[in-house]
Amino acid sequence: MTSGQRPAPAQRNEIVTRRDELGLTNWDIALLIATVAIAVLIPIEVVFGPLKLGWLMVVSAVASVLFAGDVWIRRTRPITVRGVRVVNRAQITRRYLRTWFTVDVLAAIPFDLIAVIPGIDGSAAADVLRVLALTRVLRVARMLVVQREWRIHTSINPAVLRLSFFAFWIAIVSHWIACGWIALDGAESGHPELAPYQQALYWTITTLTTVGYGDIVPIGRSQVGYAMVIMALGAAMYGYIIGNVASLLANLDVVRARHLGRLEAVNNFMRDRRVPRDLQAKVRDYYNYLWESRMSEQSEMLEELPAPLRIEIALHINRAILQKVPLFERANESFLRELVLHFTPTVSVPGETIVRRGEIGHRIYFINRGSVEVLGSDDREVVATLTDGDFFGEMALLSAAPRNNTVRALDYCDLYSLERDRFDRVLSEFPDFAAQVREVAERRRAENEPGG
Ligand code: CMP
Repeated sequence: MTSGQRPAPAQRNEIVTRRDELGLTNWDIALLIATVAIAVLIPIEVVFGPLKLGWLMVVSAVASVLFAGDVWIRRTRPITVRGVRVVNRAQITRRYLRTWFTVDVLAAIPFDLIAVIPGIDGSAAADVLRVLALTRVLRVARMLVVQREWRIHTSINPAVLRLSFFAFWIAIVSHWIACGWIALDGAESGHPELAPYQQALYWTITTLTTVGYGDIVPIGRSQVGYAMVIMALGAAMYGYIIGNVASLLANLDVVRARHLGRLEAVNNFMRDRRVPRDLQAKVRDYYNYLWESRMSEQSEMLEELPAPLRIEIALHINRAILQKVPLFERANESFLRELVLHFTPTVSVPGETIVRRGEIGHRIYFINRGSVEVLGSDDREVVATLTDGDFFGEMALLSAAPRNNTVRALDYCDLYSLERDRFDRVLSEFPDFAAQVREVAERRRAENEPGG
């Protein structure tokens, strides 16, 4: 193959990671606004006749210019297809022609403005043009793409997003139905005190919600036919809303819902087993604390991720503890990466014995938040109080001997523990860290000696 046959470097598609949240430029935002404006404006124009208001004509003209510009740009604007950035112009154009091109071009042609040009205005052609203008509204379907993109790419609560789009679609569909009702002369009877649009919207809402007061009734074949279709649509929409809104609201705070579900199950279990009330309260407090501190979520979430991402997330989540423990202050990146993946977050309730003197030690603990007391050999006298950033449980691991002291939680403690195997590996791989831990252990041992 000669070099001439190869695609130029700039034309070669590449794999991309999406770093921006929505990837929305000011241009995209302007287009979105114009799209919604046209979706609202054109049906009004069709039912009320040619635009009388100058500013509405300006909106329509500006939207046309924006849409035309968009067609021009999209011919060659790089796109991302399944994570691959397509920069090859021919490929982009082909894809565009196959997908949105027709809808975008129709939206860009100002049929409604052409219809008011002197000479055309008032003729039969003007009526055809006004109906053709309805094709401009089709561009609103692009909102479905935006909706899908946002759901995938933003950190906005998905339930909030779904509710917002849901409200948007209901509003826009109601507007179209109301315009349709006006077109069928439906707004001419009923409530003379209301403007025709108000009346039509009122009829739409009472019909869509299946309330149907009956104060505005369809007259004639076309109105009755239209009303039947809208009633059927209303019933379907109503069912959809009832089914979805409940789950949407429940999902607004998934973590909270899951926590409450778990608490309920635990409560039922404890009631069934007649667990004493004060113990029940303690268990409940524990779960509430777990939820408030978001400790319970961490390990489950991390398991699903591939290793490199898991490390990034773990580094981020555990940043607080890494900054707090003086031992880690000068540690290098690879040390922290090794450590952070194997931390197990645990919570201790006030008064809980975390480490018992004489037991075999299996792990070392780092305190993220809270305080513990270390008891002397009589298990009564407090020899030390440890708090945020301190660690304990290293002595038994270093000397392969039973625990030297009992350690008890003074309040709710967020702890990170490291299993013996991991701890040993970290010690052998990072001698500086090992030396520092040994030094602390020696000092503690000396302090615990009688007269130390
Ligand atoms: P280990 O013997 O494994 O379990 C009890 C832990 O208490 C011990 O490790 C130390 O981490 C900790 N400990 C013992 N003595 C002291 C002390 N004087 N000051 C602080 N911590 C201590």
